[in-house]
Amino acid sequence: MLSFISHSPAETEEFAASAVAPKLRKGDVLAFRGGLGAGKTTFTRGLARGLGSDDEVSSPTFALVHEYACDPPLYHFDMYRITGFDDLYSTGFFDYLGNGVLAIEWSENIEGALPDGAITVTLTPDGESRTITLEGGPF
Ligand SMILES: Nc1ncnc2c1ncn2[C@@H]1O[C@H](COP(=O)(O)OP(=O)(O)OP(=O)(O)O)[C@@H](O)[C@H]1O
Ligand SMILES: [Mg+2]
Repeated sequence: MLSFISHSPAETEEFAASAVAPKLRKGDVLAFRGGLGAGKTTFTRGLARGLGSDDEVSSPTFALVHEYACDPPLYHFDMYRITGFDDLYSTGFFDYLGNGVLAIEWSENIEGALPDGAITVTLTPDGESRTITLEGGPF
């Protein structure tokens, strides 16, 4: 388990870039837990930078998945609207698994489809602070 208390969006990004991204390997799945505004997209922005991508990171609310160019590639999902397996298939989730690192916002909605060994990233807000806890995989 790895825990960190962030006091700003910049600290959340830096933690993801320097303490998390270097430990990730192709095939790793990060399953976020934390509600609206918890910092999932902010954390993913740091991951992309830490993996070596210069791409702009934004919430994949409408596209459902964004792909950022780095090695391994980063696939950023928003499962907010996903309610069943048919929906999930249509995002390409099962095709992306294993081909890069997956970062999944609203992973609560696809609990049953998460692979064994998924890394849980829980973000708990308290004012401007976020307690960030990673469990699973190399953490
Ligand atoms: N320590 C912090 N870490 C991350 N974000 C913070 C922090 N403190 C304040 N914030 C603010 O919280 C918000 C986090 O937004 P972000 O889009 O990353 O959340 P999200 O979990 O992806 O939300 P959504 O569920 O809507 O996709 C931003 O407005 C950011 O400025
Ligand atoms: Mg988001």
